[in-house]
Amino acid sequence: HLSTTPSAREGKIERLTVFGAGLMGAGIAQVGAQSGLKVVLSDVTDKALENGLNIIQKSLARVAKKKSPDDIEGFTSKILKNIETTTDAGKAVEQSDLVIEAIIESIKVKRDLFGFLDSKAKSDCIFATNTSSLSVTEIAESCSKERQEKFAGLHFFNPVPAMKLVEIIRTSQTSTSTYEALKEVTLRMNKSPVTCNDTPGFIVNRLLVPYLLESIRMVERGDATPEDIDTAMELGAGYPMGPFKLLDFVGLDTTSYISQGWRDKAEAGQISKELVQPIELLDKLVKEGKLGRKSGEGFYKVS
Ligand code: CAA
Ligand code: NAD
Repeated sequence: HLSTTPSAREGKIERLTVFGAGLMGAGIAQVGAQSGLKVVLSDVTDKALENGLNIIQKSLARVAKKKSPDDIEGFTSKILKNIETTTDAGKAVEQSDLVIEAIIESIKVKRDLFGFLDSKAKSDCIFATNTSSLSVTEIAESCSKERQEKFAGLHFFNPVPAMKLVEIIRTSQTSTSTYEALKEVTLRMNKSPVTCNDTPGFIVNRLLVPYLLESIRMVERGDATPEDIDTAMELGAGYPMGPFKLLDFVGLDTTSYISQGWRDKAEAGQISKELVQPIELLDKLVKEGKLGRKSGEGFYKVS
């Protein structure tokens, strides 16, 4: 897996640009800012950026309650000072040392964004995708050969401020210095990195998503209710959230994109077909706009 032409990365990563101000992008921008990085958060509309800042403010208030109970306002505003926002994607990366993309789980949209950013960012800027399930290699191929050495997957978990894991995905082109720089920055963010090859779902989702999809099939078959399945997995298997609470938390649209994407991989023999058969109930909820917590309703209504 070692690249024969490792790129030279001398400086430490100080400036981070995050694309996508949704559930994940907001969390990544927040932990970046908390670790002292200068962060630019970018999305396509001002409304989306506002949504992201809202998520960050709520989460920071939670962190501040524990870390700085006597000065919640001071703690929060100090971290928020490290975050700028813009809808101008080109400007967002001009000075960046690291770009982390956390936009919609679509190979085309991700490739379009990285293809555009390749000529706008500094030549030593590292590009990383937070994709849940798409091929990092296929996304990286939207960029020049040189950039592909500075391209990797950096997969955070929801809720980013609370989950300690980050998966670092090396493609066959990712240079050792890029990998080391990513490892170093995730440690600075107080996360625990693990490494995985560029395989469908990497480590966590390869195991977690089939379980989530099978839980929906159980309900479709009428075997048990979502409430009872959640109680069973929480009290019987020690999971912090049952599968339906977790599906609502992750987003049913994101789950649906993952399983659609994997159907192509199943055709290519990279994952077994049974695991990713279409599920009517999931498709129906997504069509109705019931995407989970972020839209106010999924399997459960947000009270
Ligand atoms: N911002 C900041 N801190 C947060 C937070 C947030 N949004 N959410 C939780 N926390 C912190 C809490 O402040 C608390 O911190 P301390 O331990 O220091 O007190 C800690 O996290 C635990 O939170 P709570 O005590 O409030 O609640 P909990 O014990 O019920 O934990 C949870 C909440 C961490 C979300 C827990 O329910 C959990 O682990 N759920 C499962 C989450 C999971 O599996 N995520 C992975 C999803 S899959 C994925 O992300 C990959 C993909 O590609 C789809
Ligand atoms: P989300 O729907 O909450 O947010 C996506 C954001 O991306 C939206 O604000 C949208 O406006 C923005 N966006 C779309 N196209 C854009 C573009 N071209 N440029 C800039 N912004 C754009 O989604 P999310 O749950 O944060 O997921 C984002 C990524 O992270 C996906 O690839 C997903 O698979 C992955 N992921 C999700 C989870 C999860 O639990 N939800 C966990 C790990 C990884």
